[in-house]
Amino acid sequence: MRLVLNVWRQRSAAEPGKMVRYEAAHVSPDMSFLEMLDVLNEELMAKGEEPIAFDHDCREGICGMCGFMIDGVAHGPRRGTTVCQLHMRVFKDGDELWLEPWRSRAFPVLRDLVVDRSAFDRVVAAGGFISVSTGSAPEANAMPVPKRVADVAMDAAACIGCGACVASCPNGSAMLFVSAFAAKLNLMPQGQPERDARTLAMVERMDAEGFGSCTNHNECEAVCPKEIGVGFIAQLNRDYLRAAVRRAPPAKSKGGD
Ligand code: SF4
Ligand code: FES
Repeated sequence: MRLVLNVWRQRSAAEPGKMVRYEAAHVSPDMSFLEMLDVLNEELMAKGEEPIAFDHDCREGICGMCGFMIDGVAHGPRRGTTVCQLHMRVFKDGDELWLEPWRSRAFPVLRDLVVDRSAFDRVVAAGGFISVSTGSAPEANAMPVPKRVADVAMDAAACIGCGACVASCPNGSAMLFVSAFAAKLNLMPQGQPERDARTLAMVERMDAEGFGSCTNHNECEAVCPKEIGVGFIAQLNRDYLRAAVRRAPPAKSKGGD
C-alpha cells in the first residue's frame, strides 16, 4: 500500500508548527499505525531528516501513552481502538490522511504529535487515591462487594488516561477521565471514607488546570478507546453536589429566638 500523510510538525512549544506532506510507500496492511510511522521515520532518518515525534509505550492498548488525531478523529476511525492497535488494513491504498496532535488548552504541544498531559497527573495527585495503609491484599471474602458494583467499578478502571476525551470535546473537558478515575474508588467500600474529599479535590484541580466544563456533547464517549460511558459523568456530578452541600457551612437563622 502507498499512503499520503499530512503530519503536523512542530519543533517545540515555542515555535509555530505546520503540516508537512510525506509519502509512505512501503506500507503492509498488517502493520499497526505506529509501525507504519516507524518505517516512515527510518526513511526520514536515512535521508538526514528529523523523525516524526509521537508518544507510545505498550503498543497493546493498555498504557494510554499513544494518541493523536487521524483525519480529525482521536485514535482514528475504528471505535474502541487505540492508535497503537489500529492496523493499516483499515485504510485503502492511495488514501490521504491528516495527523495532528491532541489540541486542547490543558494539553500544550511539546513536539509534532506529542502533547504534555501532566495536567492529568496533577488531577490524580489531588485526590485519586486511597490514603489509608491497606497492607497486603486482604482475603477475598473479607469485604464483600456486590457483583453489579464490582462490574461498574471495573468498567471505570478500564480508563487508560490517554486524553482522547479531552481532545475531542469542544470544551476541552476532562470530565470523562476524572469521572472514571473517581468512580473506580468512590464505588468501592475502601473508597468511602475519602469519597467527598476526593471528589471535591479532583474536580477543583481539574478546573484549575484549565479543562472546560461538560455540556453533554458526548464526543468523549464516542472516541474513548475503552468505551467509557458518560454515565460516569452524571455520577461525578451527583457526588460533587453531595460533597459540596456537606462542606457548606450551615445557614445562619435570621432573627427570631
Ligand atoms: S476516559 Fe477514555 S478517552 Fe478519556 S482518558 Fe480514559 S480511556 Fe482515554
Ligand atoms: S502505546 Fe500503550 S495504549 Fe497505545
